[in-house]
Order: sequence, then C-alpha cells, then structure tokens
Amino acid sequence: MRVFNLRRSFYGVRALSDARFDVEQGTITALIGPNGAGKTTAFNCISGVIPPESGSVHFAGTEITGLTPDQINACGVVRTFQIARGFPTLTVLETLLLHGDDQPGERMLTALFSPGQARQREAELLDRAHAVAKRLKLDHVVVNLTDALSGGQKKLLEIGRALMAQPRMILLDEPVAGVNPTLGGEIAERIQQLNEEDGLTFLIVEHDMDVVAQICDPVIVMAEGRTLMQGSFDDIASDARVQDAYLGKRG
Ligand SMILES: Nc1ncnc2c1ncn2[C@@H]1O[C@H](COP(=O)(O)OP(=O)(O)OP(=O)(O)O)[C@@H](O)[C@H]1O
Ligand SMILES: [Mg+2]
Repeated sequence: MRVFNLRRSFYGVRALSDARFDVEQGTITALIGPNGAGKTTAFNCISGVIPPESGSVHFAGTEITGLTPDQINACGVVRTFQIARGFPTLTVLETLLLHGDDQPGERMLTALFSPGQARQREAELLDRAHAVAKRLKLDHVVVNLTDALSGGQKKLLEIGRALMAQPRMILLDEPVAGVNPTLGGEIAERIQQLNEEDGLTFLIVEHDMDVVAQICDPVIVMAEGRTLMQGSFDDIASDARVQDAYLGKRG
C-alpha cells in the first residue's frame, strides 16, 4: 500500500498535514505516535470513512482514494475501530455472520430466485465463521452474547469481523489497548500467526511498545499530522526526533 501526502482538517485544525508511507505486502507494519498525531484520521482516510482533502492511497496497483468503505473492503483492505463497535445482543457467531462479504440486497434476490444457491452460500458463510472463531480461539464462546465476552475476547472478535471479509490487508486501530499484558501478548501472537500462515498484511496503530517491538517491522512514526520517520523498532526508539515528539517538544 502506498499512502501519499494525505491532508485533512477538522474545523480549520489540521489533523493530517502530510501523511506518507508505504506498507510492504506481507509485513506487520506499525503506525505509532503521540495522542492526536493523526493515526486514526489516517486510518479513516485510507478506509474511506472520511475523505482526505488531498493525497492518494494505492493498494495493489489500484487507486482506492475516495472509494466507499464497502468498495475498499472489496479491494481487500479492511479496518477495525479503536472503540469496538459491536451489537451487544448478538452472539459471537451472529456477529461474524453479519460481516460476511456479500451484500444484503443480493442475498435477498438470491434467496427469492435461487434458494438452493442461497442455502449453499449460507452454509459457506457458517463454515467461514466457525473457521475464523477457531483461528482466534473463540470457538468455545461462539454462542455467547458479545456483551458477555472479556475485554481481550472483544478485541479478538473485532479482528474476526475483519477476517470474515477475507481481506489481504487489515488495519488494526489499537488491537491490545486496555487488555492486560498476558492477553495483549496472546492477541499479538494471533496476529503474527495470521501474518505467517495466511500471508495477511497488517498495519497496526498501537501504543503498547512491547507489542510493537515483539511483532512489528518496520515502524512508522507520525507526529502532528505528518510522517516523521520509518525504521526498525530499535532505530526509531533511539532516534532523538521520535523521543522529542513523545516528550512534547515542538521543533
Ligand atoms: N471527526 C473529527 N472531528 C473533529 N476533530 C477530529 C476528528 N477526528 C480527529 N480529529 C482531531 O484530529 C486530530 C488527530 O486525531 P486522531 O484521532 O487521528 O489522533 P490519533 O493519532 O489517532 O490519537 P490517539 O493515539 O489518541 O488515538 C486530533 O486533534 C483530533 O481531535
Ligand atoms: Mg487514534
């Protein structure tokens, strides 16, 4: 993925002034930076939730700037939200099924005109949902209400929702925020496994530097709406500009 010169303001305040970076296919790339640096806004622009004022995003040779979130999902790029948006009254399985990649309208037409095909499609989706649950070790809680899940399980379900769309690249906004270090380590392991075994590319916004150091390479640093630098975790951790950005010194 190539992100070039993204800009976006809110009420005259620049949230993104020049975000530019590449995410190589097959990597787990981190996007870090202090609060308010523009990381979530970059995700919103990349995933079509908020249009950028200028700049471009290319994925696998295709420009996806300005497409709708559904169109971007169909290109193979799916994101999760910093604050998980679930339906508390649905079970884990129902939540996963809800995020299968077909369009409800199409589904209804197929059900009306070719019920056999619709049943087959439903069976496929059910298989996929069970496979995703198993992959994330949520198979023992598939009939539980999402509201009853632990914090860590909710985070995993958020990844599961993304997986249901069978993406090539997943953008994760703070996948371990608010969970204890042991669970955080487990979530990181699941992500690493999906990267190694399924070839999924990840771009991860995360403040937990243990997780970033453990699974992410390279690390991209943003500050005040722009990309500051990119490198290995050790490179960025020892860089004076990055330390200044986190300590709030304004150059
Ligand atoms: N929808 C919005 N309306 C108004 N201002 C916004 C909106 N989204 C983001 N901003 C502002 O843009 C700036 C960047 O916010 P953003 O959420 O992208 O930061 P972030 O790097 O994700 O921070 P954090 O690490 O705290 O999640 C902030 O000043 C924020 O208040
Ligand atoms: Mg954010």
